[in-house]
Amino acid sequence: MKDLFGKALLDYHNGVLTGSMADVEDIITSTNISDEDVLPLKYLFRSFKEMPKLEQKALQLSKGKILDVGCGSGSHSLYLQSKGLDIKAIDISPGAIEVAKQRNIVQTEVKDILDETETYDTILLLMNGTGIFQELSQISKYLNHLKSLLNVNGQILIDSSDIKYMYEDEDGGVWLNANANYYGELDYFLSYKSEKEKPLKWLYLDFNTLFTACTAADLQCEMIMEGEHFDYLARISSN
Ligand SMILES: C[S@@+](CC[C@H](N)C(=O)[O-])C[C@H]1O[C@@H](n2cnc3c(N)ncnc32)[C@H](O)[C@@H]1O
Repeated sequence: MKDLFGKALLDYHNGVLTGSMADVEDIITSTNISDEDVLPLKYLFRSFKEMPKLEQKALQLSKGKILDVGCGSGSHSLYLQSKGLDIKAIDISPGAIEVAKQRNIVQTEVKDILDETETYDTILLLMNGTGIFQELSQISKYLNHLKSLLNVNGQILIDSSDIKYMYEDEDGGVWLNANANYYGELDYFLSYKSEKEKPLKWLYLDFNTLFTACTAADLQCEMIMEGEHFDYLARISSN
């Protein structure tokens, strides 16, 4: 991993601090089923007010000892920390964690969720949190690991989207290849300042598929809130 995502976050953060955005460009993303799109860096530094309702709801439901998984620049952690909550932020991106530290998040570490061993009352996975599972075949590994990190009465708050709409034609027909992998499994490409990141696998999960995977892992899964565009927030807990 070249950590272009972290590099972009660092450039943006330094730009804001120094008052010079000359060195800053937005991230360009695309997938195997969609064209290039701009991911504005400002969005990755959103305040509570600027967050989607689903994320605001997740933060309002967060309690106890909290883990923010894939924290990015740490916007969710920063809000929870400002409310006096006990929050730790982790990310595999060294650049992201450097930014989170510079934004004064106290407990933060470069770490893959699969290497985490402490236990928590709330585990947050936000901005398509199921993406971190990468592929349908890996859900049970991640869910079982997340389950092992839950305190009694603990909860996992995770968001995702049903991206079936991306396969719709102009007449509203949906064209899914029955022989292909699950339709939410995408190859994700990211570039920053003309440099290309190693392609990633990124998983969008519809609620029913998440629910079924949770049941198989002996976890409860409930819909907390539906968003405006096929997105949702779910709460997962131990039975
Ligand atoms: C879409 S970004 C979301 C960032 C942040 N949560 C937000 O909402 O702005 C996903 C983040 O997850 C991190 N990530 C991906 N796989 C991870 C893993 N296995 N463990 C921890 N972090 C991971 C990426 O480096 C990236 O910062």
